[in-house]
Amino acid sequence: MLKKLIVTALFSPLVFHGVQAQNQPKTEMDMKVEALLSKMTLEEKIGQLNQYTARWEMTGPAPTGSSEQELLEEIKSGQVGSMLNVTGAEATLKAQKLAVENTRLGIPLIFGYDVIHGYKTIFPIPLATASSWDPSAAELSAHIAAVEAAASGLHWTFAPMVDISRDARWGRVMEGAGEDPYLGAKMAAAQVRGFQGDDLSADNTIAACAKHFAAYGFAEAGRDYNTVEISEYTLQNMVLPPFKAAVEAGVATLMNSFNVIGGLPSTANPHLLRDILKGEWDFDGFVVSDWNSIGEIKNHGVAPDLKEAARLAIIAGSDMDMEGYSYVPFLKELVDEGLVDEALIDDAARRVLRIKFELGLFDDPYKYSKLDEQGLVLNEEHLQAAREVARKSIVLLKNENNLLPLKKEGQKIAVIGDLADDKDSPIGSWRAQAIAGSAVSLLEGIENAVADQNAVAFERGPVYVSNEPEFTKHLQINQTDPTGIDQAVELAQKMDVVVLALGENCFQSGEGRSQTDIGLKGYQQQLLEAVYEVNKNVVVVLMNGRPLVIDWMAEKVPAIVEAWHLGSEAGNAIADVLFGDYNPAGKLTVSFPRSVGQCPIYYNHFSTARADDTGTVFWSHYTDESNDPLFPFGYGLSYTTFEYSNLKLSASEISADQTLKVRVEVKNTGTVDGEEVVQLYVHDLYGSIARPVKELKGFEKIFLKAGESKTVEFELTADDLAFFGADRSWKAEPGDFNLWVGTNSQMGLKGAFKLK
Ligand code: NOJ
Repeated sequence: MLKKLIVTALFSPLVFHGVQAQNQPKTEMDMKVEALLSKMTLEEKIGQLNQYTARWEMTGPAPTGSSEQELLEEIKSGQVGSMLNVTGAEATLKAQKLAVENTRLGIPLIFGYDVIHGYKTIFPIPLATASSWDPSAAELSAHIAAVEAAASGLHWTFAPMVDISRDARWGRVMEGAGEDPYLGAKMAAAQVRGFQGDDLSADNTIAACAKHFAAYGFAEAGRDYNTVEISEYTLQNMVLPPFKAAVEAGVATLMNSFNVIGGLPSTANPHLLRDILKGEWDFDGFVVSDWNSIGEIKNHGVAPDLKEAARLAIIAGSDMDMEGYSYVPFLKELVDEGLVDEALIDDAARRVLRIKFELGLFDDPYKYSKLDEQGLVLNEEHLQAAREVARKSIVLLKNENNLLPLKKEGQKIAVIGDLADDKDSPIGSWRAQAIAGSAVSLLEGIENAVADQNAVAFERGPVYVSNEPEFTKHLQINQTDPTGIDQAVELAQKMDVVVLALGENCFQSGEGRSQTDIGLKGYQQQLLEAVYEVNKNVVVVLMNGRPLVIDWMAEKVPAIVEAWHLGSEAGNAIADVLFGDYNPAGKLTVSFPRSVGQCPIYYNHFSTARADDTGTVFWSHYTDESNDPLFPFGYGLSYTTFEYSNLKLSASEISADQTLKVRVEVKNTGTVDGEEVVQLYVHDLYGSIARPVKELKGFEKIFLKAGESKTVEFELTADDLAFFGADRSWKAEPGDFNLWVGTNSQMGLKGAFKLK
């Protein structure tokens, strides 16, 4: 009885948020969608909500549903609206023909794929690109990925991942923009613009998908797919801003997250999908489930069977079922039994059809599958762009006594480490259609840069990974055979400087790759210590997809370059930095912990009521480790130095309708030209709920010639200070604020103002 009442209540149009009104088409596009929808049977509409993976390439657990033959029949009978993992113009053409030529209404399929940081030309992993603090770099990376994907038959990418994450144990840290919602929002919008351009029907754009909605990055203890337990305040203030920015930038689709929040799977969460996304934000695209996340509602123990899972998901607002085998078998039955209102199916189908119309698929369903467009993929111009973005993504963590830049002549360079001549790992974990082993290795990059190749010698050291690295498999990191350390030491002894590549194989981070130990694995620490013992001029080049615990290295080694997994042109980009052809300007967008026990660690935390060292044990601290990160958010060095002075605020008080101007002078005080990311942080001293000790509210990347000064100006309004407070609404609360303008989240000139 209770269930029936709830169902009836849910069917009342007043109760549903985010269900688009029918019969009132506003635009020509709406009219086309409505005209088509009116011709469709219920089964055909449900078919539009069904997505299957190609059987030959899988990015999730093996399908338990239809066989390949059954799948082809289902496409022909209109039970499939979309496919993922069908790639290449030929394959997409074939699958599209099955749908268009055999189904009653000839509705084209939409082909989706994980084109995360490149299709064949691979750009840096998103965490690296975010370190550029240059949204135009993220936009360019997404744009070129779209050009190549669109030329290869694809319509839709499952990117950008805009999940905020504070925990380096979580393997998917590599796929997002880091720990900050403000920067995350800028990067999210930039990537949406890059993938979608301003016309989805253009030949060089594809639909984007902001994921994973929501809070996937807050998995407990950093373990992928684990429970998420966060408050509405953290959800609103930290997690949602990048999604909102993506929606405002016009993102075509969103993807559910696998996790629960407060026990409710996101795929079945009407508050997220209907109240916020489709209600408050007025999102008119569609929501795709994550891989079987509808089926997993059952695994979470929130539905007894797949039918109930399907009912919860469609009511909540999940429009398309990715590999869940739940909508086609059960939605019609649910409608017939009166357990799901057909209006919900119409709404979901309408959303899917609109995106297909916007992509131009009804004008020409084969337009993306042109066999003669392969020249658009992996060309010289794209590789140049990948190198450009890669060097912007590098963060210089340490450079004592100006060991860097290295000299192209007159310096004998030992290049050491298995990762140094790895041509595959720099491609990263999400590699789409990259050619395996096609990246420029660090060794190649160095050899390309120096005047005399005889001045460079290589020693591998111990093998790092002993099995063949693969997307779906665990890595076996060599822990039994230290062969190679002696040879490396011998070489290091003879040379002027050592470039030592350390970090992670690319398949150590990414989906399903959480770790409890985020230090150097295998024989890397031993190799580092042995080499350092005989030659103190060590430059460590880190290649990794997450912050690492590198306390020993940070204390001893004079130079550390954070190079992440930089893509096709990795080695050339790193060499550009090592030899000073490019002055590094990247800044961390994630805090580097001193110890894994500090995770989750992030700069925009609350103060706690006991933040100060009282000399007793009764304050918020560890007894065996500092509270501070090893390297803070926003941190990164340059080959030059910058001095900040003359911080000026246009007023000491502003009212809600006024703008505060914040000016600062930045001078390049070194001897080479360089770029600096000038960062503005704010602290709202008192609020209706606790406020973060610092929050990024602006940044600007400026170029300064040696000796040059510039004035940088930021503007702050009440809107910028708004947050989701105790009364569960977004607004700025009057009171006192501190602000800082500086080079990272821990250093800056301080000012103060009041909001009336
Ligand atoms: C699961 C991942 O969580 C998601 O990000 C990805 O897009 C899908 N698999 C499809 O491969």
